[in-house]
Amino acid sequence: MIAPHSTATPGSPRAVRKAVVPAAGLGTRFLPATKATPKEMLPVVDKPAIQYVVEEAAAAGLDDILMVTGRHKRAIEDHFDSAFELEQALAAKGDTMRLDAVRDPARLADIHHIRQGDPLGLGHAVLCARHHVGDQPFAVLLGDDLIDPRETLLSRMLEVRERREGSVVALMEVDPEQIHLYGCAAVEPTGEDGVVRVTALVEKPAPGAAPSRYAVIGRYVLDPAVFDVLEHTPPGRGGEIQLTDALQDLAAGGTVHGVVFDGLRYDTGDKADYLRTVVRLACDRPDLGPEFSRWLKEFVAGLAGGASDGEEECTAA
Ligand code: UTP
Repeated sequence: MIAPHSTATPGSPRAVRKAVVPAAGLGTRFLPATKATPKEMLPVVDKPAIQYVVEEAAAAGLDDILMVTGRHKRAIEDHFDSAFELEQALAAKGDTMRLDAVRDPARLADIHHIRQGDPLGLGHAVLCARHHVGDQPFAVLLGDDLIDPRETLLSRMLEVRERREGSVVALMEVDPEQIHLYGCAAVEPTGEDGVVRVTALVEKPAPGAAPSRYAVIGRYVLDPAVFDVLEHTPPGRGGEIQLTDALQDLAAGGTVHGVVFDGLRYDTGDKADYLRTVVRLACDRPDLGPEFSRWLKEFVAGLAGGASDGEEECTAA
């Protein structure tokens, strides 16, 4: 079990304990790999992306995690369950290291699953969690959005929620040409370093229409008031029920804050970003990093030297 670094007071009536991990999307950007495999199960070095997300929630002290899954998402449920035959085989061999690796996912937290049915949008996925969450604030972590394990963004967001109530979103400054890919926040200062008040939100603004360069990234700490709003949120951009649209309602009431994040974040649902994630995290691994980084340097030097035969480069290791 990962040692929590949460700042929330355990047992306080408003302490956040539950996390919701939406993982029911279609993953069309990663086809054909995601035809039969959920994108959240794509391996990042040797763990599926969603395991990093659950580890992050556990590290922030959230011990109850609800995965919102859909059709073809059985692999997610199996990954966070015990694997009797595999465990028996590894135990018989005395391979305790691999046995721990197999058992770890199920030990991270109290993990629950619910099916979304039809992927009607992120807002709808969050609404599916209503019964499980009840009338308490809760965190939402997108299952394909990785925050580097060394960052403490979620703990900071939980701490801001403790002090300011309402809902808290994570914001990252992105290039103006990229902002149309995200929900975008109009903000005003609070006087606190790295914390802003969100005055308006717009999902994937048309080029030139973005109110700022602040993109909403896949971490939220939400007040349960969001459920009543989601119940009445009509389909928005892309015909989907958008979480951003519900948060826009709450922002108009002055109850949404943003924590500005300038650390390392990876969108593993995007092919190019996925590749960068794997390379980066592999280089950081004490067991793989030194040898892999050496190979990578040679490979990149080969590219810079204008090597034209791709096969030659790849077999150079
Ligand atoms: P994305 O915006 O990445 O959409 O969802 P997507 O459908 O999963 O993937 P692409 O764009 O087609 O490649 C952001 C997060 O919200 C979840 C996804 O699983 C992902 O974690 N989601 C999205 C749901 O759980 N349900 C939905 O209906 C939509």
